[in-house]
Amino acid sequence: MPIPSGPIPNHVAIIMDGNGRWAKQRGLPRIEGHRRGVETVREITHAARELGVRCITLYAFSVENWKRPAAEVGALMGLLEFFLKRETANLVRDKVRLRAIGRTQDLPEPVRRQLDAAMSETAHFNDYTLVLALNYGSRTEVVDAARSYASALAAGTVRQDDTSWETFARHLYTSGMPDPDLVIRTSGEHRVSNFMLSQAAYAEFVFTPVLWPDFTKVDLLAAVEIFGKRERRFGLTSEQVKSTTSA
Ligand code: IPE
Ligand code: IPE
Ligand code: MG
Repeated sequence: MPIPSGPIPNHVAIIMDGNGRWAKQRGLPRIEGHRRGVETVREITHAARELGVRCITLYAFSVENWKRPAAEVGALMGLLEFFLKRETANLVRDKVRLRAIGRTQDLPEPVRRQLDAAMSETAHFNDYTLVLALNYGSRTEVVDAARSYASALAAGTVRQDDTSWETFARHLYTSGMPDPDLVIRTSGEHRVSNFMLSQAAYAEFVFTPVLWPDFTKVDLLAAVEIFGKRERRFGLTSEQVKSTTSA
């Protein structure tokens, strides 16, 4: 795989979108698009690591996705269970740590069981992390974090005068994870759909028209190349950024 010319994002987060349209274009049921999407997950997880990415987060199921037809939700949960069952041994072999963000306690029991097993079998790996956003919503994450933070304040484990973001962020699902540097959304939609709203505060966004089942490592490389050409300023002036990077 060619080496990108610019910096490599430490954490890439992907809003995997377009499975349904991919299937529709071929006259296939939507679930066929999801099935193909799972194969893309395998390829992209592998390719990101080859590029030197340390953490990849994949938005697989949102809190809003429960509102889809029951048959589609059921099929997605089945696919998730199948994916976890099939991939756990490969994750262990490749030393990939699996994490999940979202209200995973509300996933169907067989999925939770596979997920817990895969996470505990890979918990000791620290070179590369695959994070699945499952039953994830940024707003519910804020609610859950606020509740946890309030308990910590009441218990005295957080000081009353500590008003830092860093302390609050320890109560998010993403506690201990770096913020995403690059967020990619496939399928031509230009929205965040309740994904990592606070963590992506300073992420670079790349939108591609490619539908998720068609997304390849070449598309990933192209997104990383675009990322590498951006100037991240974090509120500073361009001159300030240039003087710190050249120092
Ligand atoms: C993304 O593909 C997968 C999930 C949201 C689970 P979609 O199923 O949203 O595909 P489109 O957007 O309908 O094409
Ligand atoms: C976002 O895609 C959620 C996932 C990729 C899991 P959706 O297809 O659900 O988003 P909207 O409904 O188009 O905003
Ligand atoms: Mg969609």
